[in-house]
Amino acid sequence: MPPERSFDRGSSGASRRTFVKATSAMAIGTGANSAVVGAGESKTDADPETRDDIERRLESMTVRQKVGQMTQVALGEAGEGFDPDDPFETHDEPETVGALFTDLHVGSILNGGASGPTFDGEEFVAGLNGLQRYAIEQTEHGVPFLWGGDALHGNGLLDGCTSFPQRLNMGATRDIDLVEAAAVQTGSEIAAMGGHWNFGPTVDILRDMRWGRYFEGHSEDPMLLGKLARARARGFERSGRVAATVKHFAGYGTPNTGSDRAHARTSMRDLRTRQLPAYERALEEAKTVMVNSGAVNGKPAHVSEWVLTTVLRERYGFDGVIVSDWDDFLRLLTNHEYRPNTDDGWRWAVKEGITAGVDMHMCGGEVSPAEFIETAVDLVESGEVPEDRIDESVRRILELKRELGLFEQPLVREDRIGSLVGGARDVSAKLAKESLVLLRNEDDVLPLEGTERVLLTGPGVEDGTPNQFLMQHGGWTLGWQGVEDGDLTEDGPRPRQTTVEGAMKERLGDRLTHVPTEFEAAPYESIYENFDNGFFDVTDAQERAIREAASATDAVVVVLGEGPHNEGFGDRDKMRFPAAQRELVALVDAATGDDVSLIGVVLAGSPRGTAETFDRLDGVLFAGQPGSDAGVAIADTLFGDYNPSGRLPFTWEANVGHVPQCYDDYPPRQSVDAGAQTVQFEFGHGLSYTDWAYTGLSLSASTIKNPASNPTITARVTVENTGERAGEHIVEVYNTESYGSVLQPHRRLLGFDRVHVAAGESKTVAVELDLSTLEVVPGDVPGWKPTVVEAGEYELSVGEETATLTIEKTASITDPKPAPGRNGSAGGRCDD
Ligand code: BGC
Repeated sequence: MPPERSFDRGSSGASRRTFVKATSAMAIGTGANSAVVGAGESKTDADPETRDDIERRLESMTVRQKVGQMTQVALGEAGEGFDPDDPFETHDEPETVGALFTDLHVGSILNGGASGPTFDGEEFVAGLNGLQRYAIEQTEHGVPFLWGGDALHGNGLLDGCTSFPQRLNMGATRDIDLVEAAAVQTGSEIAAMGGHWNFGPTVDILRDMRWGRYFEGHSEDPMLLGKLARARARGFERSGRVAATVKHFAGYGTPNTGSDRAHARTSMRDLRTRQLPAYERALEEAKTVMVNSGAVNGKPAHVSEWVLTTVLRERYGFDGVIVSDWDDFLRLLTNHEYRPNTDDGWRWAVKEGITAGVDMHMCGGEVSPAEFIETAVDLVESGEVPEDRIDESVRRILELKRELGLFEQPLVREDRIGSLVGGARDVSAKLAKESLVLLRNEDDVLPLEGTERVLLTGPGVEDGTPNQFLMQHGGWTLGWQGVEDGDLTEDGPRPRQTTVEGAMKERLGDRLTHVPTEFEAAPYESIYENFDNGFFDVTDAQERAIREAASATDAVVVVLGEGPHNEGFGDRDKMRFPAAQRELVALVDAATGDDVSLIGVVLAGSPRGTAETFDRLDGVLFAGQPGSDAGVAIADTLFGDYNPSGRLPFTWEANVGHVPQCYDDYPPRQSVDAGAQTVQFEFGHGLSYTDWAYTGLSLSASTIKNPASNPTITARVTVENTGERAGEHIVEVYNTESYGSVLQPHRRLLGFDRVHVAAGESKTVAVELDLSTLEVVPGDVPGWKPTVVEAGEYELSVGEETATLTIEKTASITDPKPAPGRNGSAGGRCDD
């Protein structure tokens, strides 16, 4: 019997980080240009690499060297650093890190899980430069490698980094420019670290809070998601030295039952109108794509020619590099059980994956790069995979290296990274503030005046916490599951940060009493162990201290939520708060009189909390995972120095039994005749400390003859701040009623804008509306017809203000052809 393959990434206690060894020995001069010697070439260092040079390189490479370029290897899984002499422990072959290049000719390395071999910036650059120089000088073809990693909400790979608010928070801001500014900072840091590839933005639509990656997804609205993702891709690539990655193509965000990497719950109609458009938008700015680790309509995306070639290459014209996700050729066998987990199954997986369109395989903890290369070479030699197909991929990979300037400038200066790490503080603080969503504010209990005595209690917000988990950062922060590694010390590694306790203490001094409650982050636990994204408790001593403080306080701020988590380890089956937190709220409720304000602050990567808890609280602020500037942002908001403006980027169902129920689903949203409340807070919900009124909604054109030639219009509306505080306000224009040949979504967001208005003043806002948002797939169940905006009347609304838009002609804005691959359409490879 062929041997069984095993797959077990990140088992209990696993860590993806080790320290680099002997980097100082490899330190190199600044800005030095290492000799770039292509086989048989006579180029000088100064000559820019051209496309013809790429062709010459390709011609001079052996099949083995080419397949090596298609191989990306995870370093650090078993302790490897960047020293070429380091033993390569993750797999049996090769023996050293250096031999990955000299023997296997690998084209790329990655440090997965936001943790490199060191958290020190200069050490990182010196190490990477040393390895790059080795790869160029010691290999026959002298091609530099690409380094990739996950800097997904800031460059969370280095000690002292700015951890920007997580993607869920970014969605709440609707502030595309600011989100892009954060991405520019991240991209510059990756470039200054010597890196070339950032595996973001994540463009997977959010619908299911049970999914452990919910915090990554920006929004459940396709248009908002697409705009944010495109801006982030553009920002990451701004330096010209870093490639962004649109991931995980396509449909990864709707895994069945919310289980990470399960098959997608979708339909052709849903894919074409609500899922694919966001990826398509983001692709305009990204040089690479990462594949969905799950399956779409019963076909794993990694072997789907329809997904990777017919849609991505032929319909969208994407000509960049497609990289697999972590060990995903093997996961076809171990996760999807698509073929027996045998040598034959493995060979089939490699063949099908490459044939479907994957250019580079990410070899993580389980797939040995040597084995991938052997298998692929053998497939070419036996004629099962044409060499032309290999050439296509290698050409794209070399072209990417050329575009990023790796051939001219393979090394970077060591002295730049230091001044960048921890930067963009203004951007981070503003984003954090804008991302907070005020959910509830009974009797205007907020803002606090600042003169009160306040009891702060709850888990995970202690100031001066050593380098261990806090609840404010989330996954991909100095570690895969969040800040997770290193011995506990007072001085790091950890992100630059202000904490809720620290910022409140600064304001209140002795008027603050802080009683932290128990919190143990257990990153590698899972729902099967009754995991609540952290273990929470209130000890007897803490309970006594809370009761005592509660009897002499004016307000209680209770922090609630969940610990950092990621991927499958973050999957959850509950929406209500962990029992200890529910009991904590009941405790403060019972221990305080009616005149004491009870305020909840939710730090979580998903909608955590139900009416059972919220009904006991006078005010509730959903803070998400605001990152480095959490403390300042939350305190400024609680005390009224900042007037909250964030809007929920998702639907907050009443309880987990109603998941998934997105705001743009088809009606009905509840069972026939059932009056039950299924939604707790709607998409777009968000209160302010002032009041807003809209008047005079008008459209630049209320009749559109042909939406194909008129894809945008402008809505104008006057926004009046009728309250007593200045504030920012997000104006959102929705389609709230329309009829057609198929069901229309409950509501659809067409456009939004953020505006600042002084107390008592008004501003007229012009919001650009993207009419492609109104596209549907007409026809019967198969859903293959071109996407169109159907003729008819569309009610558009801003609050209670409405206007009617009349579309005279049914026409397609984005995709006038039938579903990709449909008989007779472009790209007939996948006829149905
Ligand atoms: C994730 C990717 C990530 C990769 C590298 C995978 O487990 O699905 O999103 O980019 O690891 O860390």
